[in-house]
Amino acid sequence: MTRVIFIERDGNRRSVDAGPGDRLLDVAQNAGEPLEGTCEGQMACSTCHVIVEAEDFAKLPPAVEDEEDMLDLAAGATRYSRLACQIWLDGLDTITVRIPPDAKNMQGR
Ligand code: FES
Repeated sequence: MTRVIFIERDGNRRSVDAGPGDRLLDVAQNAGEPLEGTCEGQMACSTCHVIVEAEDFAKLPPAVEDEEDMLDLAAGATRYSRLACQIWLDGLDTITVRIPPDAKNMQGR
């Protein structure tokens, strides 16, 4: 099991447990976090952009070139940005991610 900690737009931290085989985007959406994920993981949008806390960023496998290309289009991207649709949580004890201030959910809120 992986503990996912979301740092929300207002700075509050919210902890959610993820199960085996879970992907960060699905965990975020199931928890009601505002990550749109328009292309559902086809790497054709950047609406699943999250900023991973530095110590957890180092635990992730590097982004592939297509992910890097999509991150170039993400508003407010930092060196710790990743696409939540490309993060599978197996093998991680915990991961802390910040939801970007301009993120929206599937209802555009
Ligand atoms: S959901 Fe579109 S790139 Fe992640």
